[in-house]
Amino acid sequence: MTLHALVAYATTHGSTAELARCVARTLRDQGLEAEALPAAQVTDVDAYDVVVIGSALSLGRWHRDARRLVRRHREALRRRAVWAFSSGPLDSTASDRDIPPVPSARRALDKVHARGHVTFGGRLEPGATGRLARMILDEGRGGDFRDWDAVASWARDIAAEAEAPESA
Ligand SMILES: Cc1cc2nc3c(=O)[nH]c(=O)nc-3n(C[C@H](O)[C@H](O)[C@H](O)COP(=O)(O)O)c2cc1C
Repeated sequence: MTLHALVAYATTHGSTAELARCVARTLRDQGLEAEALPAAQVTDVDAYDVVVIGSALSLGRWHRDARRLVRRHREALRRRAVWAFSSGPLDSTASDRDIPPVPSARRALDKVHARGHVTFGGRLEPGATGRLARMILDEGRGGDFRDWDAVASWARDIAAEAEAPESA
């Protein structure tokens, strides 16, 4: 039986959407049916066996759309295999070591009994709107720190775990 996966993402500047699409593409490469959708557009998760929630980090918190997704679909998510990722530090720390979920993410993950979480490096580049974003860029702290190999590798691990007989 083909597993169906949703990669629901919460983004402000678009880079988490690209990470989500990479996760979905990798899951498809591994034989799952997978689509990436904005978390705010998810009306139900009934059609999916696997749900991956990806959220941008802002001021130490998970994005509001990701927190809302969990709040609205908590019971249904509990009955599914859920993984999550956060993005992400604007330096190489996420590639160098495991970064645990921020408290708001931890609470969301506990609510749905998530099987795993990873933090990926983020991206902030000229053109990003918002006073704080421009401040970060003006301080020279922008850049693209996404580690595509790590993203694809994590997605392959999810596919393997989701397909394992004991998780069916
Ligand atoms: C105002 C602001 C606050 C941020 N706060 C954090 C943070 O607390 N922790 C973190 O790791 N990254 C933080 N970042 C970096 C973003 O998480 C990173 O740019 C991410 O890739 C943005 O994702 P998006 O393009 O999907 O919105 C912040 C960026 C901005 C602009």
